[in-house]
Amino acid sequence: MQIIRNRQTLIDAITEQKKSNKTIGFVPTMGFLHEGHMTLVSHARKENNCVVMSVFVNPTQFGPNEDFDAYPRDEAHDAKFAEASGVDILFIPTVEEMYPAELATKLHVEKRVSVLDGADREGHFDGVVTVLTKLFHLVSPDNAYFGQKDAQQVAVVSGLVDDYFFPVNLRVIATVREQDGLAKSSRNVYLSDLERKEAPVIHAALTLGRNLIEAGETNESKIIQQMTAKINEQTAHEKIAYLAIYSYPEFTQVTDWTKGIIIAAAVKYSKARLIDNELINVKRR
Ligand code: PAF
Repeated sequence: MQIIRNRQTLIDAITEQKKSNKTIGFVPTMGFLHEGHMTLVSHARKENNCVVMSVFVNPTQFGPNEDFDAYPRDEAHDAKFAEASGVDILFIPTVEEMYPAELATKLHVEKRVSVLDGADREGHFDGVVTVLTKLFHLVSPDNAYFGQKDAQQVAVVSGLVDDYFFPVNLRVIATVREQDGLAKSSRNVYLSDLERKEAPVIHAALTLGRNLIEAGETNESKIIQQMTAKINEQTAHEKIAYLAIYSYPEFTQVTDWTKGIIIAAAVKYSKARLIDNELINVKRR
C-alpha cells in the first residue's frame, strides 16, 4: 500500500493506474477506521482494480461548537487497518494540502438539508460537498463508496453528483452492525458501559417503526410515539435529538407511503450523539 500526503503525487499515481485501464474505487473517510469502513473497502476491492482511501478530518463540515479538535484520530492504526483491508493507495493530506487558500467559491446545498442533521448542524453538508468535490477531482474514481448509516449524506452527495455530472458511480452499502444491532461508528468509543449496553435500542426502535409501516400503518405520530416509548424504556441517554419519518431521498413530508421512506434517529448520550436509520421501498444506487 502506498501512503500519499500530497495532491500532485496522488494525481500522478492515479494517472499511472488509468494509463493501464485500471478502474478506481474510492472510499472517502475521516479515519479512526472500523469494520464499517472495512466493508466499504471490501466492496470496492471486488468491484475495482485499484482501491483508493482518503483519511481526512474535514474542518469545513464541523460547526464552531462541534468536535473537530476532539474527533478521534489514529494514523498508525488507520494505515495498518487500511492495508489489511486491501487499500492500494491511502491519501492522508493535511488541512493545508486540502485547503491551501481561503475559498473564493463556496458550495451550498439547497435541498434535502432542511431537516435532521442538515438543520441541526448548519453548514455541515456544505462542508461535505466541498471536500468531496475536491476529493473527486483529485481521485477521479469510477465508483465511490458510502455507508447507508449516513443516509442524509448519501442523499446530498447523490444530488451533487447528479447536478454537476460527476462521472462517478455512487455505491451505497448497508449499515454494518454489532451483534446486538448497534450501528458501528467511530463515536461508539465515547459511550459509557451502561450507554453501550442500552444503545442497541436505537436500532430496535427503528425496526419497530419499519414493521409498523410495512404492516400498513400510515399515522406518522402514532409510529413516532411507539418508537419514542421504545427508546425511553432505557434511561442512560440524555435525550432523543430526533426521531422522524420523511420521503427519501427528498427529506420532505411523506405523502405516498408506497415510495421511498426513511425513518431516522439521533440519540444524545453524555459524550456522543449516535445516528441510525431504516430505509423502506428504496433501491440502493
Ligand atoms: O462520512 C464521512 O466520513 C465524511 O462526511 C466524508 C464523506 C469522508 C467527507 O468528509
